[in-house]
Amino acid sequence: MPADDIASLRNDYTEAGIRQADLPDNPFDLFSRWLDEAFAAGIPEAHGMVIATAGVDGQPSQRTVLMKSFDHDGFYFYTNYASRKARELAQNPRISCLFQWLILHRQVAFQGHVEKASKENSAAYFASRPEGSQIGAWASRQSEVLADRETLEERVASLRECFAGEEIPLPDFWGGYHVIPERVEFWQGRTNRLHDRFVYSREAGKGAGWFLDRLYP
Ligand SMILES: Cc1cc2nc3c(=O)[nH]c(=O)nc-3n(C[C@H](O)[C@H](O)[C@H](O)COP(=O)(O)O)c2cc1C
Repeated sequence: MPADDIASLRNDYTEAGIRQADLPDNPFDLFSRWLDEAFAAGIPEAHGMVIATAGVDGQPSQRTVLMKSFDHDGFYFYTNYASRKARELAQNPRISCLFQWLILHRQVAFQGHVEKASKENSAAYFASRPEGSQIGAWASRQSEVLADRETLEERVASLRECFAGEEIPLPDFWGGYHVIPERVEFWQGRTNRLHDRFVYSREAGKGAGWFLDRLYP
C-alpha cells in the first residue's frame, strides 16, 4: 500500500469499553480472560509477545517469543542463554513485553525483570518439546553469524546421529526465563480514539498487592 494511503487510514475502534468496577484485583486474571478471547477470536500465536531488552549500552532490541505458561507471579518463555537477548538480560535483567491482538484492538504491556527459570522447570519444558525442536535447540548458536544454511543442516544431521536412540538432554545453554512484572497495562481501543487504558502496578518483589489506575488515552 502506498505511504499516502497508509496515512489516510481511518479505522474507528468500536469495541465495548472496560469498566473499572468489573476489573479483577490482579492483572493475571484479566490477562487470562483476554488471552482466552484472543485464542477464541482465532488469532494465530496469540501467546506470542514482543520482548524488549537493553544491555549496558542502553540500546533497546526487540524480538518475538512465545509465552509458555503463567501464574500469579509472572510468566515463562524459553530461549538460548547465549543469544543476544540473553546477553543483554545478563547485563540488565529489566524487560518489557508486549502482547498485541490488533483484530480485537487490544494490547497488554508488561514491564518488570527476569530471573532464570530453575533447571527443573527448563528440563520439564524441554522434554515436552517435539524431537525436531530439541535437536534444533542443540544445533542453533542463536544470534551468531551463520556462514550458510548447509552448515546448520550438517549440524542437525550430526546431532541426530549423536543422539540416535537416546532421550535428548537439556542443553546447558538453553532454558527459560521467568518474567516478574511490576507494571501491567491493558489497552482497549474505543471510538474517536477515546481508548480505555488501565495500569496495574506494584512495588518490586513478589507477593505485594496491586494498585489500579485509569490513564488518559
Ligand atoms: C512467532 C515467533 C515465535 C518465536 N518464538 C521464539 C521463542 O519462543 N524463543 C526464542 O528464542 N525465539 C523465538 N522466536 C525467534 C526470535 O524472534 C528471535 O529471532 C530469536 O530468539 C533471536 O533473538 P535475539 O538475537 O534477539 O536473541 C520466535 C519468532 C517468531 C516470529
